[in-house]
Amino acid sequence: MQQEIVSLRQQFQSDLKPVNTSADLESVKVKYLGKKGPVQNLMKLLKDVPAEQRPEAGKWINDLKEEISETLSAKLHQLINVEEKSQLSKEKIDISLPGRRHFSGRKHIVTQTMDEIIDIMIGLGFSVQYGPEIDSEYYNFEALNFAPDHPARDMQDTFYISPQTLLRTHTSNVQARVMETNPPPLRIISPGTAYRNEDITARSHVMFHQIEAFYVDENVSFADLFSTMQAFLDKFFEPGIPTRYRPSYFPFVEPGLEVDIRCISCNGQGCMLCKHTGWLEIAGAGMIHPEVLKNCNIDPEKFSGFAWGMGIERPAILKYGINDIRIFMENDVRFLSQFHKF
Ligand code: PHE
Repeated sequence: MQQEIVSLRQQFQSDLKPVNTSADLESVKVKYLGKKGPVQNLMKLLKDVPAEQRPEAGKWINDLKEEISETLSAKLHQLINVEEKSQLSKEKIDISLPGRRHFSGRKHIVTQTMDEIIDIMIGLGFSVQYGPEIDSEYYNFEALNFAPDHPARDMQDTFYISPQTLLRTHTSNVQARVMETNPPPLRIISPGTAYRNEDITARSHVMFHQIEAFYVDENVSFADLFSTMQAFLDKFFEPGIPTRYRPSYFPFVEPGLEVDIRCISCNGQGCMLCKHTGWLEIAGAGMIHPEVLKNCNIDPEKFSGFAWGMGIERPAILKYGINDIRIFMENDVRFLSQFHKF
């Protein structure tokens, strides 16, 4: 029996040598320590050993069994260690590799400018109301006191969808919509897109953006218009920017004005931007016409108001020195990506 134990030990060692995965190790374990394995067989042979030698023989077998299982578990530890390391090295991330750059979208410069104007006006106590871009002739013209034969109503200037429906030509269409359903006091701004049937040139486009502002309450006067406008321009352009008001005509205001600021490019010296006048036109404005208030069931004896309408592209052009209005609509990333601002 001693002989058998010695050769079994040798055979076990030589079977163990080439093993290099835990799975192979498991089969060696089954082979030697399994129920039908050689160690178990030796146990069965014990009964044929003479009684006086049996305890000693039993000890040999037990020692062998113990030795085999200890060797196996030491080897198992070793293999698991190696396997884990190789798994980890496969999963290794090279953090020195530069990341892939993602181009994130950002707000269009028109939206940014609009947001900036909205912020300033909210700071002055106005709130925002949006109006429809497709609207009726009534809100775009009639409620605003445009005579039926007013040239602005002409097909050549306005995009009609049907005889009574059109693309709004200005954001003033929100004035009557808000006033007929909300009693004064009203301090409203309304940003949005407007459309006119014009030639597309460096200075004009069929689609552009405006912000309407109007304030209706008792005793609203020209002084309120001037001071609110100046407070806005001080914030948007620069504090104390010189302004100029010229008489003008819009059917829905009386008196009507055009608002100019001193040219921010030449400081009033005269340049290409201001066509050598030293001034830049920035908004149409005026005191809301009593007829418009009446159309909205607001008593013009009791209430008065001012309104202005300001283009968005124009202030943006002035502020950022852009020389062609068409570039706003072209979505050229080289242009758009210059305005990293929000
Ligand atoms: N709606 C006018 C325009 O588009 C601007 C304006 C608004 C004028 C409000 C006076 C009062 O030209």
